[in-house]
Amino acid sequence: MGTFPKTSLATLRARRAALAAAHPPPALVLAGSAPPRNYPANTYPFRAASHFLYLIGQGIEGAALRLAEGRVTLFAHEPDDDDALWHGPRPTLAALARELGADDARPVPELEAAVRDHDPAILWPQDARSRAALLAMRPRGEHADRDAELAEAMIGLRLVDDPDAVLQLAASAERSAEAHRLGMAATAAGLRESAVASAMTAHFFAAGMGLAYGPIVTVHGEVLHSDRHDGLLEPGDLLLCDVGGETPEGWASDITRTWPVSGRFSRTQREIYDVVLASQLAAIDRVRPGTSYREVHETAKRELVRGLVRLGILQGDLDGLLERGAAALFFPHGVGHLLGLDVHDMEDLGDRAGYAPGRSRSARFGDRYLRLDRDLAPGMAVTIEPGFYQVPGILADARLTDPLAGDLRRDVLARYADVRGIRIEDDVLCTDGAPRVLSSGCPKEASEIEALVGSAAR
Ligand code: GLY
Ligand code: MN
Ligand code: MN
Repeated sequence: MGTFPKTSLATLRARRAALAAAHPPPALVLAGSAPPRNYPANTYPFRAASHFLYLIGQGIEGAALRLAEGRVTLFAHEPDDDDALWHGPRPTLAALARELGADDARPVPELEAAVRDHDPAILWPQDARSRAALLAMRPRGEHADRDAELAEAMIGLRLVDDPDAVLQLAASAERSAEAHRLGMAATAAGLRESAVASAMTAHFFAAGMGLAYGPIVTVHGEVLHSDRHDGLLEPGDLLLCDVGGETPEGWASDITRTWPVSGRFSRTQREIYDVVLASQLAAIDRVRPGTSYREVHETAKRELVRGLVRLGILQGDLDGLLERGAAALFFPHGVGHLLGLDVHDMEDLGDRAGYAPGRSRSARFGDRYLRLDRDLAPGMAVTIEPGFYQVPGILADARLTDPLAGDLRRDVLARYADVRGIRIEDDVLCTDGAPRVLSSGCPKEASEIEALVGSAAR
């Protein structure tokens, strides 16, 4: 097992106090539960709701935290003999309360009366069973405004990471960077994508980590979030790996690297790779206090299009090309998102977390997938992940290509047929000064990557 920093009880208490100060009425935050696969004790893996993890530091299935009138009350399942026999002993409620710094711990069946008597605002968990149980206690529509106020208070806290959160994110990114290096080393023609995926995920499981999201390990990088791992690695392929673990406390990392199966980028692959890298480096450099994340996105688009003009794939003036949608033809998604306890942090709350008040999603193709438009501030963690993809459906869509008909050199693009998709993604912390790349342990210069690919077999 790896060693990980542990969020101190003082920090957890400070987070609870900050939430109570930002939202004085009673608040209820649920951990959620794991749905059964067939019989009740055979469940899908349990992963507690991130709002709960943020305040408690560990996932306790079925638990809830109430903040009311200056008191912290934990609701949790009482240990019983049957459970101890099959799953091992669990702490008493009193011991849990002591360990977690709660004023009191009550059995879960008392939750219903607590909801009725205190009528708290609720941060709703995602799992259907917990939602149904809560709905039976309090119809959701009844206090939507109050729930929204609690959500806003939580967003205010989780947007800016405290020092313990930064330690978690850094540890998570460091381990994920190691997993990528192992994935590069394990790559060889003739293997399946699943072999590389397992080399990477094994590293997380050995370290006592979980996965922050379903790993993307694919030779079809043009499928942005492909979840298949059955493809065969051919010598001329690029392998796109978007893989990140989460610490035992649940803090995510999200890293993408793209490497040549053979260990050598072809000339055309290398040219596009370096264009994407230049775009990514320029975007990272803009992660500074006061810069809006939309500007970061625009920077990535501009640098990508600049590079494609240099290669002769596009022609014309940069502003005109951008205006006519040239970036989205090859880079149809946003430059990244918030990162925290969730890989797309707080997207359970919709665009309320990602978009500052008064800002909303663009209707334009490409830009409409931008998940974040806030002004950056020290302590905010984001991903920066531009890419280049040849998506057949986009390149065949006249509504997208007609405005660029005279500027897109399909004859030149045809020479780059061995590039289906390249993405380069890092986890970046906004600081008072220069951006801090939490995932800097993961190589991304083409020559560094070439030196690592296939090295396990050498
Ligand atoms: N791994 C999901 C993403 O990059 O957004
Ligand atoms: Mn990402
Ligand atoms: Mn990713």
